[in-house]
Amino acid sequence: MKTQVGIIGGGPSGLLLSQLLDLQGIGNILLEKHTREYVLGRIRAGVLEHGFADLMREAQCGDRMDTEGEIHGGFYIAHDDTRDRINLKRLTGGNSVMVYGQTELTRDLYEAREKMGGKVIHEARHVMPHDITTNAPYLTYNTGGKTKRIDCDYIIGADGFHGISRKSIPANKIRTFERVYPFGWLGVLSNTKPVSPELIYAKHERGFALCSLRSQTLSRYYIQVPLTDTVDDWPDDAFWAELKRRLPKDVADALITGPSIEKSIAPLRSFVAEPMRYGNMFLAGDAAHIVPPTGARGLNSAASDVYYLYHAMLDHYKNGDDTGLETYSQKALARVWKGQRFSWWMTTLLHSFPDNSPFDNRLQQTDLEYLLSSEKAMASLAENYVGLPF
Ligand code: APR
Ligand code: PHB
Repeated sequence: MKTQVGIIGGGPSGLLLSQLLDLQGIGNILLEKHTREYVLGRIRAGVLEHGFADLMREAQCGDRMDTEGEIHGGFYIAHDDTRDRINLKRLTGGNSVMVYGQTELTRDLYEAREKMGGKVIHEARHVMPHDITTNAPYLTYNTGGKTKRIDCDYIIGADGFHGISRKSIPANKIRTFERVYPFGWLGVLSNTKPVSPELIYAKHERGFALCSLRSQTLSRYYIQVPLTDTVDDWPDDAFWAELKRRLPKDVADALITGPSIEKSIAPLRSFVAEPMRYGNMFLAGDAAHIVPPTGARGLNSAASDVYYLYHAMLDHYKNGDDTGLETYSQKALARVWKGQRFSWWMTTLLHSFPDNSPFDNRLQQTDLEYLLSSEKAMASLAENYVGLPF
């Protein structure tokens, strides 16, 4: 087979790019290791910055998001048995975020690809990029016991943190930067009315907690837990009791609990690989960078990569201009690092760090007091939360 762009990975990054390119008549084939059901079975975050929402509309995938998603003009930071509202709309001059589950967004992208007759190949095993540094790169994969080959102009590595694309780059051609945090997030999804119509990020000496939602009947809650904990250590009752302890009393009293329909623990990690291009292969999304979920940046950092790549490909195929491709890594990384800084800062501000000294704890407390007493500091938080311009 032959195409213009070969895409590895059918998560939000790969699917969105595939859809945008196809709408512009740029041929592409997407290879996904798993089944569609498996990909759609993963529960991930659900806060989209406005630039991402615009990109979904441009990809003609925004209808359900615009009907079922919720526009949030603010969120709360809870601390010391009280909470302060971060008024995103006022602090950013009118911007907000869209609360819409990543699972739903991925489903919309799959449906759009199907409707357009997009070439999405599931259960593609042993995907391998070849001859990446030549002008004739190609992909191989296994399906039904046979090896197939796709020749293309460019390869996109959108295969997540554990994918093959970043690993195919020789070690001396890539540099990685990493911070692993000494805790994870235990997440619970429940068919209950959310305790608050807007998200609550809670700082507490027992550990961080987050009240989030997928809809007005589906709640998503998290608590910070030690990395040594397992899901079995947290029966539903223990989870709800601990969550309540970490919330202001009025919120805890209003919390409606119910059986968990999903429960999992995710470690927190900051990670960046540089550069995001090797020869004619470009990395996008989690394949190149990971953030802790505190600032809701993960999906949004992927979106800016897709935006830059999409425009770079358009310039190349429509105008014969390669500037966008040449500067992709540099441009994408500049924004990626800002997302990294913000996620690291939000994480540092709100979590309990087991190894912190009393001095560190006072600084953390002061950081929060300063934030909540300064319009300018809150405006900086809000500007980052709704998303810096692409
Ligand atoms: N071959 C083909 N596909 C692969 C391979 C491989 N070797 N390895 C991984 N994949 C697929 C995975 O099965 C997954 O569906 O690539 C996809 C990568 O998707 P994500 O991990 O969702 O990464 P990305 O699309 O960049 O999304 C970034 O969404 O998933 C969240 O935490 C993530 O919020 C971040 C954002
Ligand atoms: C979520 O709803 O899963 C969620 C929301 C905001 C975050 C992280 C996760 O910062």
